[in-house]
Amino acid sequence: MQAKSFLPPQRTLMGPGPSDVNPRVLSAMSRPIIGHLDPVFVGMMEEMKGLLQYAFQTENALTLPVSAPGSAGMETCFANLVEPGDKAIVCINGVFGTRMKENVERCGGTAVVVEDDWGAPVSPGKVEDALKGNPDAKILAFVHAETSTGACSDVETLCRLAREHDCLTIVDAVTSLGGSPLKVDDWGVDAIYSGSQKCLSCTPGLSPVSFSERAVERIQARSHKVQSWFLDLNLVMGYWGGGGKRAYHHTAPINALYALHESLVILAEEGLENSWNRHARHHAALRAGLEAMGLTFLVDEAHRLPQLNAVHVPAGVDEAAVRAELLERYNLEIGAGLGPYAGKVWRIGLMGHGANERNVSLCLSALEAVLADMGAVKPGQALAAARARYKQS
Ligand SMILES: Cc1ncc(COP(=O)(O)O)c(C=O)c1O
Repeated sequence: MQAKSFLPPQRTLMGPGPSDVNPRVLSAMSRPIIGHLDPVFVGMMEEMKGLLQYAFQTENALTLPVSAPGSAGMETCFANLVEPGDKAIVCINGVFGTRMKENVERCGGTAVVVEDDWGAPVSPGKVEDALKGNPDAKILAFVHAETSTGACSDVETLCRLAREHDCLTIVDAVTSLGGSPLKVDDWGVDAIYSGSQKCLSCTPGLSPVSFSERAVERIQARSHKVQSWFLDLNLVMGYWGGGGKRAYHHTAPINALYALHESLVILAEEGLENSWNRHARHHAALRAGLEAMGLTFLVDEAHRLPQLNAVHVPAGVDEAAVRAELLERYNLEIGAGLGPYAGKVWRIGLMGHGANERNVSLCLSALEAVLADMGAVKPGQALAAARARYKQS
């Protein structure tokens, strides 16, 4: 068999993730491999725990990266916290809420669904009604940053309501961690998962998770074994639990963890709040340019994520042809719409390392050029509007 090395093109990633990766992260990944029980590696993992606690703004002892992508972080939360027969309130306002429901059911639980329109945030009023109507519910689950629409939900309020009704919370922070304000301890989140490939700007394949003491007590008091051996936190805790002693559970993805460590070091160097502000600043400029072109946003301004910008495709435009041309001519990736918004919106990511002025300018000029060629927008407006917005910040 003849085989050649794979040499990918150099793209700019402005879709819903993965995002552009800082070269420092790729370089960290190529450092020499050492054993995953080597004391030097164990030292790095201890440091990583502190860095993740900082990113999540928590002192939770059970804070670690699951060795698999965000979906595995999601499954870790549900598999450990939902027992057969348990009732969970699941909020659905996009793709990822539907996956939460699926998780509850696969764990043998019953999901009570609170639905909101795609593009709207989770409604605290509806959640309160569901909590009142289901006093036996044990879990409230929702997505902080809905990547399918770009809507941001109010974690603090939803967690407060859950506590008032003695429910634990499971929060999806795959797209929010590092990009939008998130304070796990102050807001009383019980279980949270994220992904390495969005605002942390690491390579895909790792899922940071964190569990409150209340959540850990619930896991330790389970009456059924966790169905998944790999994701059973009672076993994983033997490896990640700290205290210096680590028992073999699975072979950690060593070089991928170097990469995550480096991306967290970069986040700490910048400062979490500075990172949140940087995402907001570049979003404001991107928005000014998109609106100057005549494009409109799917999500109301008050609930819009800076890192995921969903805009309507102008009438009569073949959205897939636009994305194909951006990729071919400009090496620029933006995302398509999902579910009811397939073919109707583009999703433009400004995540982590990719949230910068160069990417904003590239996206605006390339999109404007392609759309102007199709006669869908008037050229020459977008960059000037973005530049004017940058001058104000
Ligand atoms: C909100 C949300 N949850 C979960 C996931 C699943 O993460 P992964 O694709 O890393 O498994 C994603 C991925 O895009 C996401 O955006």
